[in-house]
Amino acid sequence: MLTVRAPATSANLGSGFDVFGVALGAPADVIRVERAPETSISVTGAGSQYIPEDPKKNTVGAVAEALEAPAHIRIDKGVRPSSGLGSSAASAAGAAVALNELYDRGYTREELVPIAAEGEALVSGEAHADNVAPSLLGGFTIVTDHGVNRVDASIPVVACLPETTVSTRDARGVVPDRAHMNDVVDTVGNAATLSLGMAKNDPELVGNGMNDGIVTPERAALIRGYDRVRDAALEAGATGVTVSGAGPGILSVCHARDQRAVASTMLGAFDSIGIESRAYQTSVG
Ligand code: HSE
Repeated sequence: MLTVRAPATSANLGSGFDVFGVALGAPADVIRVERAPETSISVTGAGSQYIPEDPKKNTVGAVAEALEAPAHIRIDKGVRPSSGLGSSAASAAGAAVALNELYDRGYTREELVPIAAEGEALVSGEAHADNVAPSLLGGFTIVTDHGVNRVDASIPVVACLPETTVSTRDARGVVPDRAHMNDVVDTVGNAATLSLGMAKNDPELVGNGMNDGIVTPERAALIRGYDRVRDAALEAGATGVTVSGAGPGILSVCHARDQRAVASTMLGAFDSIGIESRAYQTSVG
């Protein structure tokens, strides 16, 4: 038996739609694999009742098939599905690492990115690598047609997850087909600022660079309480706030000294409208 821990991730970071992603210190999935004649999957933990165990319908089944690595795969979910923290990607990335080792396939972590992304296609309908890449490689990742680039980064964040769900398919349905040139120019500037902030471990630059007027406003409208939670986090010292992935999780970047206050105001803001939530005080890493 082989055990792998696969971290949650946050993709987009506002200005980097379908491009940027970060690995988070918590939460994480734990994947255990054992060789078997045929792939079977069992799922326990957060939101496991919503996750199919049929290998044809689970991201890790697609990964096992791509690696020709049949196994009994046990997934202990720490990353709740449909929360915006790359739940399916964490399982796919963890299974790719574990099965690669179990069957001695010899792929590098970078080579496992497209394999794990195949699993993502099952869930979102498209093979996005912006969550699997940081889960496999850690740090801050930039996924483009030219491949994946990454830097180590250590930035304090608070990921606040309400007890509501938004499906990735629905969140992709509201992405506009077109954008105004001035919004594109702003977003490019912000994305560049954010990248620099990651390279310099500077929460101010990262926070300033998270603004995006193209995709985020459409997605924020799907999340009850988004504006209230964002405003509360900014008032408590967050340097930037955005939708995590497809939502409904909300991600705040901050200085370490403000992390506790940011977490408690985000929780309080959801609570004030009758929504329970959970906050992870963690960091990019
Ligand atoms: N980039 C993807 C999105 C991440 O925001 O739709 C979620 O899988």
